[in-house]
Order: sequence, then C-alpha cells, then structure tokens
Amino acid sequence: VPNVQELARACHGTDGEIPDRYVRPEVAADEAIGGRDINSAIPVIDLAKLLDPQSSQEECAKLGSACQHWGFFQLINHGVPGEVISDTRRDVTEFFRLPLEAKEEYSQLADGLQGYGHSFVFSEEQKLDWGDLLYLQLRPNESRDMRFWPEQPTSFRNSIERFSSETAKVARCLLKFLAIDMGVDPESLLEKFRGEPQSMRANYYPPCRQAGKVLGLSPHCDATGLTLVLQVNNVQGLQIRKEGQWLAVDALDGALVVNVGDILEVLSNGRYRSIEHRAVVNPEKERISAAVFHMACRNAMVGPLPELVKDDGKAVYTSMVFEDFMKRFFSMKRNGRGGVEGLM
Ligand code: SIN
Ligand code: FE2
Repeated sequence: VPNVQELARACHGTDGEIPDRYVRPEVAADEAIGGRDINSAIPVIDLAKLLDPQSSQEECAKLGSACQHWGFFQLINHGVPGEVISDTRRDVTEFFRLPLEAKEEYSQLADGLQGYGHSFVFSEEQKLDWGDLLYLQLRPNESRDMRFWPEQPTSFRNSIERFSSETAKVARCLLKFLAIDMGVDPESLLEKFRGEPQSMRANYYPPCRQAGKVLGLSPHCDATGLTLVLQVNNVQGLQIRKEGQWLAVDALDGALVVNVGDILEVLSNGRYRSIEHRAVVNPEKERISAAVFHMACRNAMVGPLPELVKDDGKAVYTSMVFEDFMKRFFSMKRNGRGGVEGLM
C-alpha cells in the first residue's frame, strides 16, 4: 500500500488522476450538512462544570443525554494543560513533516498494527483511505513497543507520554460521571477498564484537489469504550452519521471531540450509542488529528453491566470476553453499526 503523503504530492503537482483504489463514487453523492447551524452542532460538555458541585448534576445530565442521543460531544475545560496540547500538536505535526525515510524507520511490520503506515487492509478490492497514520500502544506502560515511538522530533516521546496520562485521566473522569448518569456504582464500570489500556492513532490526511472523490477515513464505528480526538491543526474533516446524513463536526480550538465506542454501548445496555463516522479531506490543506482509544482490559467481560439488567431488566447484547470481542470486531471489516447490532 503506497504512502499517501507521497502519492498526494505526485497527484497534486501534475493534476494527475487519482488511482482507482482511492476513488469513492459515493462521496460526491452525499452532501454533508455543515456543523455551524446551532441545531445540528454536536453538544458541548464542560468538564469544569461537571467537577463543580454547584453545576455537576445538571452537566452530568447533559453528558448522559449527549451520549444517548448523539454518541458524540466536544469536551471543553477538560483540564489537559494548554502546554500538553500545544506540544502534542507541534510534535505530531513535525513527525509527519519528516522525510519519508525518517518516518519509515517506524514503519508497521507485515502483520502488526503499531507504527507508521496505513489502516488495516483486508482485501485486494478494498477501497483505500487518503491518509497515513502512526499507531501506538500507550498504556499500560508494559504494552508499549518503543521501536515504533519516534525519536524525532526529540520531544515527541515526552509530549505523547504527557498527552497519554492527561487524556487517560479525562477518560476515567468521564466514565465516572457516565456511571452516575446510568445509576450504577462507578467502580463497576471503571473495573472494566482496569490498567486503563489506551492507544493512539495520529492521522495525516494530505490535501487532494479532487477531495470529493476520496475519503480520509472510511465510515466505521470505534471498538472502544471512549475515544478522545484532538484536532491537531484545526482543519476540519470529521463527519458523523446522524439520521441517515453525514454531519460535519466543527470542533472548537483545543477541545477534545469525544465519542462512545461499541464497548460502552454494550456495557450501557444500549443507553449510549456508538455512532458511525468518517473523515473527509480538504482540497488545499493537509489535515492532522490524534485519536486516543480507551479499551476494556483483556479479561473484562464485555456485556451489559449486571446492575442494569437486575430485577426484570433485559440484556440487549450478548456478553463476551474483551479479547473475543476484538477478534470479532476485526473480522467484521468496517461494517458500520453492524458490529454492535450483530450482538443484539
Ligand atoms: C477517528 O478516529 O475516527 C476520526 C479521526 C479524525 O477526526 O481524523
Ligand atoms: Fe473512529
């Protein structure tokens, strides 16, 4: 699979044709609705308000409602120090700016996910994404494979380490409030995320003159508990599927875009929704984002929380151990909401 940054440079310079494997006839057809209309913008949740006893109850209800009706929200006043955000932005951008040979020192191995490369390719016919990525396992510490952690720029490792611990803290805090919203003991939810497994996918989407013909990231749902996304350079492109249409997410500068993944949908017994999303590319500007994924721990049972199905509550999803859940997810091959719906 070719490096898209290099491919884009070649196509851009010569106004060349885009290779067939990247062309998506369906994209031009769906007209995304802009996110600026107040009625269609994803909810904004304020973490400072969640933590303030004066406003906590009201904000917690807003948070629960966002996860129920949207599956997506933007988090402001998230407490991640501005310096951690700006260092992460700078170092992720600088990494993608390195010459190809320097980045290729961190290339994915033939059968691995970690490293610099592209998203999982499962067939010869599969359409390819207009983007390169760097995928790293971040937590727990012993799961890190430092061979894939860039040493250039020199501050990269330190910046990502801090970004990782700060975002893990945010995720833990959100899960606690979600447990309160669901009326379950926060420990019973946090226990599923013991050791706080976390990985990061930094995305580089080169510009494409024929942006309407390609996709930066194919439609998918996340197999996570929670995903937190930082827009690294403020070029927008994330879209979510709402009532059958693609809705552009217009993120506030420095906010974290948060979404519910399949694991949380199942744990919540369907109260919260894992929503299909995709990324489009910009005709002139590169776009860079960094997503951190918060996964359940290896031996966690992924199924509706017992407290939600006691008495006469009915479990809407089949339960399975996290490892089997992931095997099943990877075998489903970007099946939109098919992943969770198949468990119902
Ligand atoms: C995603 O991780 O699904 C979206 C990332 C992005 O906004 O580029
Ligand atoms: Fe995603």
